[in-house]
Amino acid sequence: MHYKITLLPGDGIGPETIASAMKILNFLAEKNNLTLDLESLPFGGISYEEHGTPVTDETIDTCKKSDVVFLGAVGGYKWDQLPRQHRPESALLKLRKELAVFNNIRPAKVYNSFLESSSLKKEVLRDTDFVVLRELTGGIYFGQPRGNDADKGWNTMVYHREEVERMAVQAFELARTRRNKVTSVDKANVLECSQLWRDTVLDVHKKYQDVQLEHMYVDNAAMQIVRAPRQFDVVVTGNMFGDILSDIAGMITGSLGMLPSASIGLKHALYEPVHGSAPDIAGKNVANPIAAIASVGMMFEHSFKIPQVAKVVEQSIEKALADGYRTQDINFDNQGKTVSTTEITEIILNNCKEIMQKVNAESGNFVTA
Ligand code: IPM
Ligand code: MN
Repeated sequence: MHYKITLLPGDGIGPETIASAMKILNFLAEKNNLTLDLESLPFGGISYEEHGTPVTDETIDTCKKSDVVFLGAVGGYKWDQLPRQHRPESALLKLRKELAVFNNIRPAKVYNSFLESSSLKKEVLRDTDFVVLRELTGGIYFGQPRGNDADKGWNTMVYHREEVERMAVQAFELARTRRNKVTSVDKANVLECSQLWRDTVLDVHKKYQDVQLEHMYVDNAAMQIVRAPRQFDVVVTGNMFGDILSDIAGMITGSLGMLPSASIGLKHALYEPVHGSAPDIAGKNVANPIAAIASVGMMFEHSFKIPQVAKVVEQSIEKALADGYRTQDINFDNQGKTVSTTEITEIILNNCKEIMQKVNAESGNFVTA
């Protein structure tokens, strides 16, 4: 198979973490007979420096013509004072909207190696494994009217029935491949928009009676995620609530530096780590590339449709952690061995090689190499 991939390394630690992830991607692509046509373009602050805009129309066009877009991170102190439309974040929002990647998948899974060092108790965390599905191209992020003048600022939270329906379908379908439970998060006790959300999810559920559905208000959901995270399987919610809840859920994995994400639309797919550009540590070879590497795993699952390889990526990361290797951000209490970005990448790559060999020797039926 042949895939066209646009790389948008972006700002801060983006380029380093994407470079790491590309080592893993290139190796696994070759092993699985995928040919990748790669193009790297400036995006975010770096694009603003070069072109006076955080994303050019040509870049959006190239992304639309590719099968997969792989983004590092955007933003930095340097561009914080710019008007909103020039800020790197606005490029990200535009890209998501133009690619129509409405379903943002953010897994929250605990790594066993982190059980001891998390800010949450290990009894609470153990075996936590859920996924946040965040609606990504609607809601208050994009609703009109919006604006501000000297005395007021305003935004509009709006959802159309179709936007909620397609998210509900994604949630129920995903739940069927997992533990068969969906928690739909809203604020239906206060917001009309949430009432529409809830009614629509209920309607779609009529076709998915085998899946358990519950509704939860967003404030309660925030509390439940840290109180008893094992209760969740698939959480589905709107753009703004999903933004906030996925950061909370990120702490389940121990650090935002570990969290990958996939954003899937009908035609396009965008992969990006959940973390930001961390300009304070950029260029020092200390950034944690695990979120970017785990995003490669998601790419194999959702775009290349080889979920077994996604498992290999996951196991390779887990083994590196179990063997005590840590980038500085996750070396809590100095219990592990601190390694650099490039070192942990080599370690994970070697694990991939070993695990692939083992799988091949045992079954030989999913890799063609
Ligand atoms: C995220 C980020 C973005 C968002 C920002 C950078 C615009 O926080 O991907 O969660 O709010 O969606
Ligand atoms: Mn966020």
